[in-house]
Amino acid sequence: MEFDRENTHVYYADIGEEGDLDLNRCWMALSDAEKARAGRFRFDLHRHRYVRAHGQMRHILATYLDAPADRIPIETGHRGKPFISTEKIYFNMSHSADTGVFVVTRSGEIGIDVEMFDRKVEVDDLSRHYYTPSEQAHLASFDGNNRRELFFWLWTAKEARMKVTGEGLALDPRHIDVEIVAGKPVSYRLPERPKASLAHVVLPELAGACSVAGLFTPLLDIKTLAVSG
Ligand SMILES: CC(C)(COP(=O)(O)OP(=O)(O)OC[C@H]1O[C@@H](n2cnc3c(N)ncnc32)[C@H](O)[C@@H]1OP(=O)(O)O)[C@@H](O)C(=O)NCCC(=O)NCCS
Repeated sequence: MEFDRENTHVYYADIGEEGDLDLNRCWMALSDAEKARAGRFRFDLHRHRYVRAHGQMRHILATYLDAPADRIPIETGHRGKPFISTEKIYFNMSHSADTGVFVVTRSGEIGIDVEMFDRKVEVDDLSRHYYTPSEQAHLASFDGNNRRELFFWLWTAKEARMKVTGEGLALDPRHIDVEIVAGKPVSYRLPERPKASLAHVVLPELAGACSVAGLFTPLLDIKTLAVSG
């Protein structure tokens, strides 16, 4: 798989039992460590989502690296960010309930996050604790569903930024200040370094928010299950 005008490919898939991903094919793609981790889930629901998400990530990477999915040399950073050190390729994934999203680029470090709008969270309480004053002011100017949806757009924008550098939650969400225009995140005011760009992703049939952040400007090509099975 090559990159054309767009420098970043985003894939999405149903990683639930009703989706198109074959559980066995995904299982066969996993490393021994991933199989062991899958074995530690208590419920099939969560184990199967894990197997499909990680198997699908490997099948996608296989199309870029021209290598069998089970041989992709994925390593893990000390805070959990997966990476490949032997090739100039960057990737990340996120899952929320039955939705898995996957991002691949050759341009630089990248992070992606997806959250469903119907996830049960205390929007007002969480935003008071984890959002910046400017973000809270924007939220206060909306009500009902619009406020809830903006909350999740901001959440995914923050998590995508945390995942770019692999810091995860070690990067305090209050230290990520997201600029909002017309009810959607458009860029990061903070942190200033490393400079990251933001793109929100509108996925068909997805009742949720999805954001991509990169250490370059992601020009997105949204793909469905180009790698099926
Ligand atoms: C990264 C993090 C924000 C993910 O948030 P989440 O909404 O729960 O999960 P998502 O579905 O969006 O993403 C999970 C995927 O992102 C990737 N990922 C995991 N850690 C990551 C990190 N630090 N940076 C980037 N990507 C990461 C993995 O592929 C992971 O899939 P898996 O959980 O099935 O292995 C959160 O788990 C986190 O902060 N982890 C860091 C924990 C940490 O600091 N540990 C310190 C140990 S010393």
